[in-house]
Amino acid sequence: MIVIKSKNELQQTIQKWKKQNKSIGFVPTMGYLHEGHLTLIKNARKENDIVVLSIFVNPLQFGVNEDFGTYPRDLMRDLDLAKNVGVDVVFAPTTEEMYPNKPSVTVQVHSRIHVLCGKSREGHFDGVATILTKLFHLVQPNRAYFGMKDAQQVAVVEGLIDDFHFPIELVRVETVREEDGLAKSSRNVRLLPHEREEAKYLYASLLKAKQTIEKGERNPKVVTKHVRDFLTEHISGEIDYIELYSYPELEEVETVTGEVIIALAVKYSQARLIDNITIEVN
Ligand code: PAF
Repeated sequence: MIVIKSKNELQQTIQKWKKQNKSIGFVPTMGYLHEGHLTLIKNARKENDIVVLSIFVNPLQFGVNEDFGTYPRDLMRDLDLAKNVGVDVVFAPTTEEMYPNKPSVTVQVHSRIHVLCGKSREGHFDGVATILTKLFHLVQPNRAYFGMKDAQQVAVVEGLIDDFHFPIELVRVETVREEDGLAKSSRNVRLLPHEREEAKYLYASLLKAKQTIEKGERNPKVVTKHVRDFLTEHISGEIDYIELYSYPELEEVETVTGEVIIALAVKYSQARLIDNITIEVN
């Protein structure tokens, strides 16, 4: 595994592989790798000749009151983990390498951002789209891997790839879950014991919604009400939102049809949990 810090060196290395017709799988991350990232890497490993992992905490996607400065970083630990799952290249640039000057051009995302977590994170997805545009140009991957835990990010990146004609296949990777269904997240350790116990009901409520739709319910308000009633009965956390949209457009629907997402966020004392499922309805 090689670790590259400079754009030039990365471009030269990529050119060499492109000339050899090697397929490149790309996993962009902000580091502090967890099982979700490792699953993305393992998928990339199976489907490509070369696997490139980027580790870069992107200042552009953090709001003024967000934790850019304190975002967890541990490059040595990340490199060990990456090596064990067969990464070929880790691209770990400094902030100055990626943004040597104040950007003269950034990407602005217009749709898919005014709902779910995007509502309260103004500018976040512009930052994500900007850094991914830069990284996609440098890495030139055939496939890029993103986890469905962050389904809104997947929707935005699918829009970016389509609109900017990147010849990249976005591979959606299913959310990795604990045995009881709770979506894996580094925030889960912040749950108090009784909160952790009841957090399994988040996924259970999404499965209930799926069942309701499978039984024939097509009114989105009825489906989300079932989820809310179920959650209210089983959890003490504060429900932030339960929403149903078309996917990946993330638009309101009058009737549940085509691909839809049901997504929710719940606030606990020290952690805010999000989860979602997507369903294809004929
Ligand atoms: O999901 C993340 O970790 C980041 O948003 C990404 C895609 C690496 C862009 O900085």
